[in-house]
Amino acid sequence: KKVLHIVGARPNFMKVAPIHKVIAARGQLSQVLVHTGQHYDVKMSDVFFTDLGMPAPDIHLGIGSGSHAEQTARVMLELEKVFLSEKPDLVSVVGDVNSTLAAALVASKMGILISHVEAGLRSFDNRMPEEINRIVTDRIADLLLTPSPDADINLQKEGAAPSRIHFVGNVMIDSLLASKARADTLSTLADLGLTPRGYGVCTLHRASNVDDTKVLGGLISALAHVSTRLPIVFPVHPRTRKMLADKGLGSLLEKAPGLRLVEPMGYLEFLALTSQAKLILTDSGGLQEESTALGVPCLTLRENTERPITVEQGTNLVVGVDPVRIREAAVEILDGQGKKGRVPDLWDGRAAERIADLYARVLGVSTGALRA
Ligand code: UD1
Repeated sequence: KKVLHIVGARPNFMKVAPIHKVIAARGQLSQVLVHTGQHYDVKMSDVFFTDLGMPAPDIHLGIGSGSHAEQTARVMLELEKVFLSEKPDLVSVVGDVNSTLAAALVASKMGILISHVEAGLRSFDNRMPEEINRIVTDRIADLLLTPSPDADINLQKEGAAPSRIHFVGNVMIDSLLASKARADTLSTLADLGLTPRGYGVCTLHRASNVDDTKVLGGLISALAHVSTRLPIVFPVHPRTRKMLADKGLGSLLEKAPGLRLVEPMGYLEFLALTSQAKLILTDSGGLQEESTALGVPCLTLRENTERPITVEQGTNLVVGVDPVRIREAAVEILDGQGKKGRVPDLWDGRAAERIADLYARVLGVSTGALRA
């Protein structure tokens, strides 16, 4: 039996790597790894394969950037050919990017079993393209693999049959736990002249934050303010770099020497940075989860989150995009009031094992080698 994995964008790689690895080690199922090419820069893609010990993709579609419709449609056109020739028994998609939705749509029309890893997350904000991708993918996927109980509840409320829902835990944390020791050996901090807990980390790339001049300007001014007390390292996503230049925000940045813009980092390098940070400011979904797993205080620069467990149990606070509110929340953390949290259940480094168990069971493969 054959499992076909789809990866497309940066946040997909650390979710698929552990699943691919466990299935390969067990040797019960054959696998095909397809990269859509939604992300294509070396720093947004290639370095993750090396850092995560993931083999090069078996098939690369080279889709690249485009409008939502263009990107999704191009992935669909190419994937239909791949599914026809590869004849997978199960298509495994992760997360909420355009490649996830495109693959699920194609597989559903071809009658191929679909598994969605990271199902059930909802921001309840339909202006987010990712929310549309999540809702539609979950509606048509056969197996809904959830990272947290809130996701199970969302899916049940939407009418998904309980037999489709499987709480497997957070597979992204498998990669984090497996990589932490290696990240700890890197000289990332020293290279940047930083000391443990002596700096903050920021990432921004959400369309709602970076495409609007006023919002982006406000965020940069808040970061600039915080950076007078604590240096902030800001690895800049290509989309954000383009917007900073287009919107003429360079002068704001020049006046903030504590805000240090750097190139996007590899997985291990970035983990070395985040794990020792005093504070993380982000609009990324994955980073909200990673900061909770690492016990580092996180401020989410958005009005909502599809990952409420990081707020209820973890170190995350959703503070929105108002510069004053961001500054106040950051100052509280710097003054020692950082939120403490716990690591949610089944964010234990073994989600990929549970996923591999499930795929073997569903595909009717001998369970002899599986855990009891
Ligand atoms: C995509 C995902 C988002 C995810 C993010 C992680 C969707 C709808 N969005 O957003 O959910 O959180 O990835 O990074 O799928 N670009 C490059 N090099 C690259 C990739 C992109 O320069 O390797 C630039 C291009 O100018 C491109 C822009 O970034 O037009 C946006 O890329 P795109 O893939 O459309 O969305 P992201 O903003 O990266």
